[in-house]
Amino acid sequence: MAKANGNKPRVLSGIQPSGNLTIGNYLGALKQWVAVQREYDCFYCVVDLHAITVAQAPAELRRKTRESAAIYIAAGIDPEISTIFVQSHIPAHSELAWILTCMAPLGWLQRMTQFKDKTAKQMQDSIGAGLLNYPSLMAADILLYQAELVPVGDDQNQHLEFTRDLAQRFNHLYGETFTMPSVMNPQAGARIMGLDRPTAKMSKSEESDNHAIFLLDDVGRARKKIGRAVTDSFREIRFSEDKERAGINNLLTIYQAITDEPRASIEAHFSDKGYGDLKREVADCVADTLAPLQARYQELMEEAGYLDSVLKIGREKAGEIAEATLKKAQENIGFLAPS
Ligand code: TYM
Repeated sequence: MAKANGNKPRVLSGIQPSGNLTIGNYLGALKQWVAVQREYDCFYCVVDLHAITVAQAPAELRRKTRESAAIYIAAGIDPEISTIFVQSHIPAHSELAWILTCMAPLGWLQRMTQFKDKTAKQMQDSIGAGLLNYPSLMAADILLYQAELVPVGDDQNQHLEFTRDLAQRFNHLYGETFTMPSVMNPQAGARIMGLDRPTAKMSKSEESDNHAIFLLDDVGRARKKIGRAVTDSFREIRFSEDKERAGINNLLTIYQAITDEPRASIEAHFSDKGYGDLKREVADCVADTLAPLQARYQELMEEAGYLDSVLKIGREKAGEIAEATLKKAQENIGFLAPS
């Protein structure tokens, strides 16, 4: 399969601009994106087509799309090395998504955990069909770039399985067209939990004030949220799968994902300390992560035209590759080429 950028294997990933990006998005996705960008030919997308599977206010969506792209750069994605682009700027995403939607068995789509979760409490008539077809669009994002690796948090693993199954089905029916992608989860931080409810994944769309640390939260505010995080009455600082200890486990996981220290040495470090110390040290390393990111973000937003020029270059680079794959898929499926 054709590879650009000195034959480096490709990486593709994306984040929905559907709210404020969280420390979960950073530790589950962005931190890995930065780590692989020299080794791979990386494409990082702001997935606005996915965001509209639930209603978004137009001005807000536009603002969040730019904000997300700026956060990618502020987190360490170098636009000189990686390609940053907006999903809706490349029509091939929607076009391939339609082809894949036609091939995706309804049963597979209905069994997706995210679809079941997001629709559980809603009336059938208020759910847009985009929510059901969401995984076909995500498969299109990945397959268009012949990506070999997809760095994501572990909530996306089922979508990756779906993408592989669909690619296999297409290749089997219509001949070798798509590269088979593999999922890449971080060693620590693949699932950061809510500070207020450590048995539920930290999410950008959760309403509660003490649930998530947002990447653009004022550092003092982030510290306060960590100070209020739910813990337990065991008075013991160690990693644990036990639901009763999920709050401490989550704080330790955030610490581990930021510092990259092994679990044993983290437990040894906290062995003679209390929950207050743990919270303070987690708050310190979160603050050390947020402060430089926010400073860079402010600079970027003040630099008129810079972000737009990055997205323009990204659109051109991504568009070329996506168009070539789409054309091949269209040919293989039997569409008459325009003369
Ligand atoms: P989204 O926008 O929900 O999340 C973006 C990325 O952040 C990760 N993530 C987390 N990781 C750890 N702990 C958490 N609490 C946490 N919350 C979110 C997600 O796993 C994800 O990696 N469907 C995707 C977006 C998408 C995509 C793609 C991803 C669209 N097309 C193609 C990869 C490749 C989503 O909703 O992510």
